[in-house]
Amino acid sequence: MRSRSHRARSLCSQFFFPPIQPRIATSIPLFRRMTTVVRIDRASIAFEGTRVACSDEASRRALQQAAQTLRANDVVAFPTETVYGLGANCQSTDAVAKIYAAKNRPSDNPLIVHVSSRRQVETVLKTPIPPIYDELIAKFWPGPLTILLPLPENTPISPLCTKNQHTFGCRMPKHPVARALIEESGLPLAAPSANASTKPSPTEAKHVLEDMDGRIPLIIDGGPADVGVESTVVDGLVSPPRVLRPGGVSIEEIRAHGGSQWADTVAEGARGVSAPSAPRAPGMKYKHYSPKARVIAVAPRVSMAKLSGLQPAKVAVLTSLQLGPENFTGIWPQAALLDLPLGRTKQEVSHNLFSRFREADLAGCDLIVVEAVDTADEGLAIMNRLNKAAEMYIE
Ligand code: TXA
Ligand code: MG
Repeated sequence: MRSRSHRARSLCSQFFFPPIQPRIATSIPLFRRMTTVVRIDRASIAFEGTRVACSDEASRRALQQAAQTLRANDVVAFPTETVYGLGANCQSTDAVAKIYAAKNRPSDNPLIVHVSSRRQVETVLKTPIPPIYDELIAKFWPGPLTILLPLPENTPISPLCTKNQHTFGCRMPKHPVARALIEESGLPLAAPSANASTKPSPTEAKHVLEDMDGRIPLIIDGGPADVGVESTVVDGLVSPPRVLRPGGVSIEEIRAHGGSQWADTVAEGARGVSAPSAPRAPGMKYKHYSPKARVIAVAPRVSMAKLSGLQPAKVAVLTSLQLGPENFTGIWPQAALLDLPLGRTKQEVSHNLFSRFREADLAGCDLIVVEAVDTADEGLAIMNRLNKAAEMYIE
């Protein structure tokens, strides 16, 4: 007989994420949804103030279809400058529940509210934005910066979005398609990254389709995301203010442009986001950003002999600033090597990291070896993601 807790767990998983039925000719699967991909040409969008003008007829129709889907309290995947997001009306619990179901996301993880104007922030915040954010907003909005705001008692934001927090995260994306979608729908959007929970965040529409086909009705393809890692999350409601998640705005930029209160800010768990000093034990990590293949981070000056015990069949080699694929030849004579360069600048490494993970999986690699970078500038966000994806750091 099954235990009570097993039954509770399986009921729970059915509720949050019904199993996908195989597609067969004689019956329409009960839970599987038809997923449509529409293209919006980002260059066709212009803003007059916050009013959206779209010069391409097909893009305009796609934008209206997506806005209508959101107004009907359904979900839409859309491009932002950081990664693709999975958006829904943050004021509707029904709509937000569809995000958690589609991603299979742990239900205690709060969502960021995306806005297209300061006026829209004030509709959900009800009070002016705390002045500690004035200089950061002036410099980085629209852009890859999420600020924590106090959650007012009479907020229209669904409690499913904020998950028992006294705060909510808020950002104004820079990508013209994201801003146009928020403006056209008239809705502030709750939006996590549009990957299935635990998978690398999607930086192209095809990545969203890999994870979300059959689970959501609509994906907007607006081309590759520029930054490639998620927004920086900052908390100015505590003293001293701090960076909760390094991302598209570097901590050096926050210190330089945030005003005097941000001049010495640190990243929470700063030791944990730099490269660990010793190899970590397998399994000692929270599963996140993870491709199917095992991921190993290596210091640029690693002694290659330390890698020879790994015995892979097919290895993806993701090198960047100091190493190249030639550094790995001969280590595993039995294995096929796939060269997937990350680029020669940290900006390129951010842009390419998640997408290279997915390429390695599609190519059937069982091991991904990634060159670590130093944690200055974009390096802090890169190493934060790499540390979470990697089971081991070898130096
Ligand atoms: O760039 C981004 O931020 C992307 C795009 C789509 O905008 N979104 C994104 O969302 O990365 P998500 O849900 O994948 O990550 C949001 C992070 C989570 O780690 C969540 O725990 C944290 O922000 N977060 C959200 N609200 C919070 C709050 N009130 N307090 C502390 N952390 C919060
Ligand atoms: Mg995410």
